[in-house]
Amino acid sequence: MDHFNYRDGQLFCENVPVERIADECGTPTYVYSRQTFTDHFTRIRDAFAELSPIICYSIKSCHNLSILKILKEIGSSFDVVSGGELKRAIEIGADTSQIVFAGVGKTDDEIIQAINSGIGWFNVESEQELEQIDRIAGQLGKPATAALRVNPDVDPQTHRYTTTGRKETKFGVDVERARRVFNEFGKNRHVALTAIHIHIGSPVNKVEPYIASTTKAVELIRSLRKDGFEITALNIGGGFGANYEGSEAPPAKAYAEAIIPILRDVGLQLILEPGRSISGNAGIVVGRCIYTKSSGDKQFLISDVSMTELLRPALYEAYHFVWPVNPETGFVPPHRGRDLKMDSTVLMDVVGPVCESGDFIAKDRWLPLVARGDLIAAFTAGAYASVMASHYNSRPQAPEVLVEGDTFRLIRKRETYDDLVNAERSCLSNLNPSG
Ligand code: LLP
Repeated sequence: MDHFNYRDGQLFCENVPVERIADECGTPTYVYSRQTFTDHFTRIRDAFAELSPIICYSIKSCHNLSILKILKEIGSSFDVVSGGELKRAIEIGADTSQIVFAGVGKTDDEIIQAINSGIGWFNVESEQELEQIDRIAGQLGKPATAALRVNPDVDPQTHRYTTTGRKETKFGVDVERARRVFNEFGKNRHVALTAIHIHIGSPVNKVEPYIASTTKAVELIRSLRKDGFEITALNIGGGFGANYEGSEAPPAKAYAEAIIPILRDVGLQLILEPGRSISGNAGIVVGRCIYTKSSGDKQFLISDVSMTELLRPALYEAYHFVWPVNPETGFVPPHRGRDLKMDSTVLMDVVGPVCESGDFIAKDRWLPLVARGDLIAAFTAGAYASVMASHYNSRPQAPEVLVEGDTFRLIRKRETYDDLVNAERSCLSNLNPSG
């Protein structure tokens, strides 16, 4: 699952005690395991090997440049959703001809940037967007290639905020409209519309929704081909799960065994956009207990990790396993599930210092007693954690550390208070003195 394990009562990332990192780098800090990133990427690549897919790691899940570089070196390409993410991919020398650019609201500047950098595919979400890409490609005299994002109307059985493949969501176009888009834009334009893109949600911890959506996509592709359109690629998006509690995410092999038979004889370049399944289990966020307190019947552990470092619990009531880094003897957790009631564990909420009642990272959890200064870790925080961090309450962004075997290195510095005010300080002189 990952390389975060307790040894002799201490949490290790690979061969490094997490306490050592916290002592050197302070808290809160994101800690990543290089081996976990590469293991998860390799498992997906091997599972789908029969179809030689282009694996476009979804940068939005964890966008640190060092992580992107590591993944590029083992053969990953990238899924970007903004000019900023494209900049990151270019910065680490990614092969832009293998990049897919998704997102419902690409601006003209982003379209120009993407065409000029020679990206592989625009994942197009509307007719207006396609018209605009066509116009800009014509003006620049540079042809572009696009996949039409089709909404297969399949329920991925996940959180409503991360469901994307239902027809009432803002993403893509429905199957009927897809045919009309091909009739209008499918031939003789500056944009070659030669692929279909589907992404149904995230995380999707079942294979059946992929079977349903891929089957629908193949039906559409067959009927488009009958009408004379050349379709060369199918992008089935991301959404494969990560393990937050146990082994709730099917292994890469299970997804592949469900999807490959549908595509085996269709003659398409398969594109995948996995994010969380590669990065989710590859990171934790480490914090310190600042205070403990009780209020009424409730016990609180107030940590220096808050919604500004890990927003998912506040936003989706998402579950992250939280546990002391160096628990007392007898309290090494047997698993990462919700029910860890043991003798002398206490029911508590783990909260942060931010001024919001929604600022919690774990609610109603049985935890061993923790004292001021003790370290805690929130697990499965490699995906959608550092990338969703905010500066709310003027909190500087936490650093990121990468562990490689016996060693660790900083891959993003902790922000300072000066970093927080610099962009404004230089504008103070713009104030109208009489105002
Ligand atoms: N492709 C597209 C078009 C996407 O929209 C996404 C994620 C992915 C690929 C990657 O999905 P993954 O393999 O990571 O599941 N903030 C939420 C997740 C939002 C996902 C957005 N799109 C969370 O924290 O759970």
